[in-house]
Amino acid sequence: MRTTIIALALIGAAFSPPPTALGAAVPFLGNTRNSVAFLGYTRNSVDVNLSLGQTQSKPVAGVPPLGKTTSNAVPAADRIGPFFEPLTSSLSNFSIPDNQGPDRWACSYIRGAVDTPDINGTSITIAKKSKRKPFSCGELVHIQRPQYGVYSVDMISTNVRGHVTGFFLIANGVSEIDVELTGLDSEAVWFNIWEGSKQNPVKIPLGFDAAKGFHNYQIEWRKDFIAWSVDGKQILKRSDINTVDPATNSYRLALNSWTTAVEENMWAGKFKWPGTPIRSQFRNLRYTP
Ligand SMILES: *[C@@H]1O[C@H](CO)[C@@H](O)[C@H](O)[C@H]1NC(C)=O
Ligand SMILES: *[C@@H]1O[C@H](CO)[C@@H](O)[C@H](O)[C@H]1NC(C)=O
Ligand SMILES: *[C@@H]1O[C@H](CO)[C@@H](O)[C@H](O)[C@H]1NC(C)=O
Repeated sequence: MRTTIIALALIGAAFSPPPTALGAAVPFLGNTRNSVAFLGYTRNSVDVNLSLGQTQSKPVAGVPPLGKTTSNAVPAADRIGPFFEPLTSSLSNFSIPDNQGPDRWACSYIRGAVDTPDINGTSITIAKKSKRKPFSCGELVHIQRPQYGVYSVDMISTNVRGHVTGFFLIANGVSEIDVELTGLDSEAVWFNIWEGSKQNPVKIPLGFDAAKGFHNYQIEWRKDFIAWSVDGKQILKRSDINTVDPATNSYRLALNSWTTAVEENMWAGKFKWPGTPIRSQFRNLRYTP
């Protein structure tokens, strides 16, 4: 049964009570400022962690918080327009960071963490091959400079605590729009927007296990709103958080797989080596203006 409208909550520093009306039918306020609308589709409740958004206990996806970006170092291709990267044969439109990555992670990006593409897509493996860190991890950064539009990719995560599979747009230190799957709860997805150093994460139950098969995750990024969809169904739309103009800020589009170094108990948990390499899988990366 399709549930249409399930919850509405305000998120932000000024809002502290937990949502009490989850499951109740409330009017869809739509695209109003200072409001967040949740459209459910497989579940009749939404798990929204308001306190996490205020504590900033979560590490940055993709890059460190201190501006030591890998992705912004990538030269952007001087082109615009749609693209489709099946990720099944060539990675020639990507930059792959090597021997770098955030200090506060348990892993460092290495080139070799990104596996050779095959018919099932491209995977990024967590192993113990870094000289800098206990673990090796990886990132794919698309060379086209992002503009507003619709970005999507098929992903498979893991259920290994402390492991993060990420798909995000980032202007390092300024703005970030995230989809993150964490091993602590592989039946949920985190949608987050960074405004400078302030995070606004929302956890949404998926109704399936993201570690068990490919599903499509989508970010629609517009000047006035951001909407996230899973398998083609929109589940979160926000217009209360500002991003910055991609025409004058250097955003990058990235896919990554990495591990936490500390206990992120409200988010991904702390990574513990499971004894064997683990991997995130990606295929069918698309952009439509
Ligand atoms: C790289 O991007 C160009 C321009 O969008 C596209 O024509 C080409 O097919 C892409 N390469 C791959 C391997 O996807
Ligand atoms: C692709 O995935 C299928 C299903 O998991 C598997 O049986 C097959 O071996 C994979 N192919 C390659 C080239 O890895
Ligand atoms: C939300 O945060 C509280 C701590 O403030 C924590 O106890 C709870 O488990 C968190 N819920 C989710 C869904 O992460």
